[in-house]
This record gives sequence, structure tokens and C-alpha cells, in this order.
Amino acid sequence: MDQKPKQMPKGFLWGAATSAYQVEGAAAEDGKKLSQMDVLNQNTGFSDASIASDHYHRYKEDIALMKECGFNAYRFSFSWSRIFPDGVGDVNPKGVAFYDDLIDELLRNGITPVPTIYHYDMPMALVEKYDGWISRQSVEDFASYGEFLILRYGDRIKNWLIINEQSIIVEFWKKKNYIPPKYHDNPQIKFQINHHMNLAQAKVSSLIHKYVKDGRAGSAIGYSPVYGLNSSPKNMLAMLNAEDLKNHFFLDIYFRGEYAPGALNYLKEHQMAPVIQEGDMEAIREGRLDFLGVNYYASKCVKYPDKEKNHLIEAKSNLTGQKGAMGAYEVMPDFYEYIKNPNADTNDWDWTIDPDGMEYLLRDIYERYRIPMMITENGIGARDMLEADGRIHDDYRIDYWKKHLKAIHRAIEMGVEVEGFLPWSFVDVLSTSNGYQKRYGLVYVNRDDESPKDLNRMKKDSFYWYQKVIESNGALLWNTDPFVR
Ligand code: BG6
Repeated sequence: MDQKPKQMPKGFLWGAATSAYQVEGAAAEDGKKLSQMDVLNQNTGFSDASIASDHYHRYKEDIALMKECGFNAYRFSFSWSRIFPDGVGDVNPKGVAFYDDLIDELLRNGITPVPTIYHYDMPMALVEKYDGWISRQSVEDFASYGEFLILRYGDRIKNWLIINEQSIIVEFWKKKNYIPPKYHDNPQIKFQINHHMNLAQAKVSSLIHKYVKDGRAGSAIGYSPVYGLNSSPKNMLAMLNAEDLKNHFFLDIYFRGEYAPGALNYLKEHQMAPVIQEGDMEAIREGRLDFLGVNYYASKCVKYPDKEKNHLIEAKSNLTGQKGAMGAYEVMPDFYEYIKNPNADTNDWDWTIDPDGMEYLLRDIYERYRIPMMITENGIGARDMLEADGRIHDDYRIDYWKKHLKAIHRAIEMGVEVEGFLPWSFVDVLSTSNGYQKRYGLVYVNRDDESPKDLNRMKKDSFYWYQKVIESNGALLWNTDPFVR
């Protein structure tokens, strides 16, 4: 037996992640104009994005906490409308300076910046001008925005994540985009948006390869392995269908430069396929990506649709945090129906908790594409309690991450290249569906949906645990001493 102590490979990236509109605040400050997310988050019943976690004003304090925790990497996203308030045209010098300062402060503290160029926040000005991603003009404007970032920050950044969670943008197309009501009944639009994003991403990937020395282009996919309900042949087929449309449909583009044929033909049969112009697939092939960021929270389970449900049903989130209050499970007629997995536990918002799914997806993706990956999101949303002694005892989060990290290590032992772990989230941020009711951070932010309070930062128990995990390069995960965790 090999007695070598288990730990992560040398040079493993340890850190955490956030995104601009969820953490920065200052939504209309220093020249920034609103993004579609700033607008969509108004009047939701939860907090809006105007203050969020106030990282715009507190980034130095936040970076000091990252350093204290031992981070050597941090994933953040650029806000397009902070750099180009109107999406195109005049650049906002104060916005550019903010990211210069953020990046320099990270580097001074020995923390590698891993930025995302786009995390849902299309400038509202472009939505008003031409309906945002629905228009093909978005491709050119995104490429200009990307080119600006690459030329400005490329001397300090090698690993670029271009678009966050295209898969989720398609699944929740009206929530992750400001879609004018006249399009609401046309599901083809979501696949057209996705095609424009594929083109935009490929263009920016080519620019990274052109301008950044040793630069690598990646994307952060929202990824759920799909399990079939059982071994009934129809349910196994439903599983294959869902894998094709929910996963291969994106990754085949990124790493093979083509649409997964099964998924594309299904969309054609159902009048939902994107319009593809001459030259598009060449551009997509030229812009193939170098690595994948994996955002993994939960696996999914499917069966072949029941007769009475065999029509298009769009997914809707659980907004209350009462287990079982899922808005709706997605159905693609004659293809698959999402269901609750009867064999797995969930959190309060019905997200399956499945650490084995991490090993499964890493091995599965690696088998198919042979590409390096980093975990760019992973975490458990919970109603964390601030105790009277100022502590936050989030044992459930420690347990969640411990199991997921062990699964990552097992995948590495099986030959998968995993370069880092950047879980969600660093500080508590504005949740995309549940405001500040659902928290993910290593660091508590003292605010709620009703009031921004003092926005003070408080280290959760998971912060202290993660610090020790990082210090041991993961070895602590296998420590069986009950007093060490
Ligand atoms: C990912 C997103 O889908 O999940 C993040 O990239 C998001 O932006 C995270 O916050 C958790 O989702 P939610 O809806 O619980 O905030």
C-alpha cells in the first residue's frame, strides 16, 4: 500500500469566488451605470444590488482576510458597466482604476487573480439599445469589451474565465437576462442568446491567445451531472438526452468547436435551434478554450416525461427556502423530465447535496475532453446564524466542503487534472435567487435584506477550518483526530 500522505498536488490554487454585482455594491457610483442585474434585482422582495456586500469600498479589508486565510488565488468578475457605462464607447477611468487597484492589491498579497469577464451583468444600456444578447451586435460589443480588458490587465492575468454559467443562463433565461416581455413566449430566444455568447466567447478566447503571453482562455460552466431515475431503458435514454442538452451542448462547443448533434437535432425538430450564420462555426472552432472552470453545487435526476407532463416546462427556483417548495422542474417534451432524486439529501432550497457527483463529473468530463479543470464554484447555501458571541458555527458547510474536496482528490488520483478550488463564496454575497437569506461565504457580512446594517466582516468557523486545510495543502482533510477538523 502507498503510505504517502494524501494532499493536493503542488501548486494547487486555493481561494474562493465572488461576482461583481453580487459583492461590489456602488451600483451607480464613480461613473458606473446600471447593469441588467442591478435592474432585475430591484423589487424582488429581497435586497437589491445597490450596496450588496460593499466590496467596492472594502476590497482592501477583504483582501487582508483572504491573505489571513492563506489564499493564493481569488476569482472575481469585472463589471462591464463599470468599465463601459454604456456598454460601448467611452471608458470610465474610475472603473478601470478600481480593477487596477484590486488586481495590484491581490498581487501584492501573493494572490493570483482569476477573473471572469462576464457574470450575468450585461449593461442595461445595451438592453435598452438593442435587447442585449438577443441582438447579434452583442457579439461585437462583447469582443471590444473583452479586448479592452485583455490589453489593460493582460500583463498581470494569465487565466481568464470568459463567461459564467452559460448553461444556467439558458435554463433561467428570463432571470439571468433582462428579456423584454415581447419575447417571453419564444423559447428559441434562449438558444439564440446562447449562440451569440458562444461567438462572443470564441472571439475573446482568440484575443487572449493573440495578446496575452502564455494566456489561457476558459469559461466557468454551471455543471450538474445527470442521473437517470433507474435502469428502465426509457429513463436511461432520458439521462442521455439531458446530458446532451444540458452539458455536452456547451462543452462540445468549448472544446470541440461543434454543437452536440443529438441536442441540436432535437432543438431543430422543436423549432428552438439557433440561427447559425456562415462563418460562425469556424469562428467558434478558432476560439476553442484551454481549460474549464467547473461550478458544481448539485447533481440532477431525470426520467422520461410522464404523459400528462410531456410538454415544455421551464425550471423555477425555490424562493422560500422551505424544502419541497421548488417552483417547477424542467421538462423537455419527449426528451426528459427533471425530478427530485429520491436517493439524495437536499439543502433547504432543494439543491441536492452530492459529493460523489463531484468525482463523477470530473472523471466524466476528463474522459470526454481531456482538459485541465479548476473548481470555480462549489458551496452550500444556508441561513447562517450570528451567535451572541459573534461566532457563526457553520459545521454543515465544513462537512460539505470536506466531502467535496475529498471527491476532488479522488478524481485527481484517478488521473484527472484539477488545478484549484475556488468555492462559492468568499464573503457572503447577494444570492441570485434568495437575497441575503441564503448565505455561502467563509466570511459573514453583517447585513440582511431589510437593512445594510454595518456590513462588518466576521469569520465563520469554516474560515478557520479552511485556513488549516490550505496550510496543510489539503492533508487536514484526512486527519482523523476528533479534536482537529
Ligand atoms: C451560481 C452563480 O449559479 O450559483 C452564482 O454563478 C450564484 O452567481 C451561485 O450566486 C449560487 O446561486 P444562488 O442562486 O443561491 O445565489
